[in-house]
Amino acid sequence: MPLIDILTIFPNMFSGILTESILKRAIRAGVVKIRLHNIRDYSGDKHHKVDDKPFGGGPGMVMKIEPIYDALQDILKNKKKGKARVILLSPQGRVLTQRLVKNLSKEKHIVLICGHYEGIDERVREYLATDEISIGDYILTGGELAAMVMIDSIVRLLPGALGDKNSIKSESFSKDTLEYPQYTRPANFLGMQVPQILLSGDHRAIDKWRQEQARKNTLIKRPDLIRKGRSEL
Ligand SMILES: C[S@@+](CC[C@H](N)C(=O)[O-])C[C@H]1O[C@@H](n2cnc3c(N)ncnc32)[C@H](O)[C@@H]1O
Repeated sequence: MPLIDILTIFPNMFSGILTESILKRAIRAGVVKIRLHNIRDYSGDKHHKVDDKPFGGGPGMVMKIEPIYDALQDILKNKKKGKARVILLSPQGRVLTQRLVKNLSKEKHIVLICGHYEGIDERVREYLATDEISIGDYILTGGELAAMVMIDSIVRLLPGALGDKNSIKSESFSKDTLEYPQYTRPANFLGMQVPQILLSGDHRAIDKWRQEQARKNTLIKRPDLIRKGRSEL
């Protein structure tokens, strides 16, 4: 069973996503094991301090390397070097895509390090992390929301996480297109009609229509995906 360890100074922030919906079921079913570690528990300081002023001056506080180093020593003890992906969440990292998510979903052990304040002592990235990943070009207050995005996107790809494994086959970004439009009952709502083809029962025609719609959707909403092709996804 894959293991995800999360290093954070706000472990309670995760209680929502880990106790609802697919993540809750996946944890209960033994699809994944997720452990939360409070970085403050590894602070040698009697006030559990994990940050300090930046060398060279400047605003805010920087998270110290020692508690993160000690937490990693504890988590990775008895593990061969290079056996875990140690990911630093950072706005400066490689931007997360479905392709990277798919790649990470094959890992046996992932460690996510959540920063806060002005960020984390650069030596964590240089010497302790194997990857630096961003969830997009904007700044969050801390790495916790980014870690949640990563956990959610990775776990749903694990075998047994979703009720129907076919649902990930045609969804957006699984190929170089977005998904086709979806409809459900009623077929007519206040005059707003579902496309007749979907009510026809002709599955070959429906498949063809869906492929065309997926391509049209992508051309209108995300033409960059078609230009870049699969290699960029
Ligand atoms: C306020 S940010 C620090 C930003 C840093 N001073 C900079 O300008 O690059 C604090 C923490 O939030 C997390 N974070 C912020 N934006 C993120 C993003 N887009 N993706 C992943 N993590 C992010 C990182 O863990 C970061 O250390």
